[in-house]
Amino acid sequence: MIAIYPGSFDPLTNGHLNLIERGARIFDELVVAILRNSEKTPLFSVEERLEMLRECIVGRPNVRVESFEGLLVDYARQLKAQVVLRGVRAVSDYEYELQMAWMNRQLDSTLETVFMMPAGAYPYLSSKLVREIVSLGGAISGMVPPSVEVRLRARLGASRLAQK
Ligand code: PNS
Repeated sequence: MIAIYPGSFDPLTNGHLNLIERGARIFDELVVAILRNSEKTPLFSVEERLEMLRECIVGRPNVRVESFEGLLVDYARQLKAQVVLRGVRAVSDYEYELQMAWMNRQLDSTLETVFMMPAGAYPYLSSKLVREIVSLGGAISGMVPPSVEVRLRARLGASRLAQK
């Protein structure tokens, strides 16, 4: 069974990685899919995010990282994926996730959304908060992989110093 784990991953956090590990144990193939979204201005380009994710999934033969444009259901059809994997942390995620899952089901009733919980350590971790903490000079050890932290500090730490 092929599953897609779609998202922005701007940047990848340890919560995302935990979900990738869990998904890779259940599905035969897991495609981590970064959305190419022209409406958002991301901190990292899609190419940078692909690189960061690929660095972190080394040694997981059934996981691959790709990017996609357009509707998720169309991309799922193209990959012959039967499942969309999404992480649900706190109740606050549920409304948004349910709306997306329902919409995707309207668009393609054969595509099933599966929700998984990340490990206990990550329920309140988000890319947005991680970006904010780094830009304000705070510590994020344990929240993102070390290679991602280095890139975050290089990008946001530099802009913070420039603002001083
Ligand atoms: O990490 P995010 O930003 O919460 O991920 C959102 C994502 C990429 C899963 C969602 O925006 C998506 O699937 N976009 C593709 C366009 C699409 O299919 N839109 C309709 C979904 S209901």
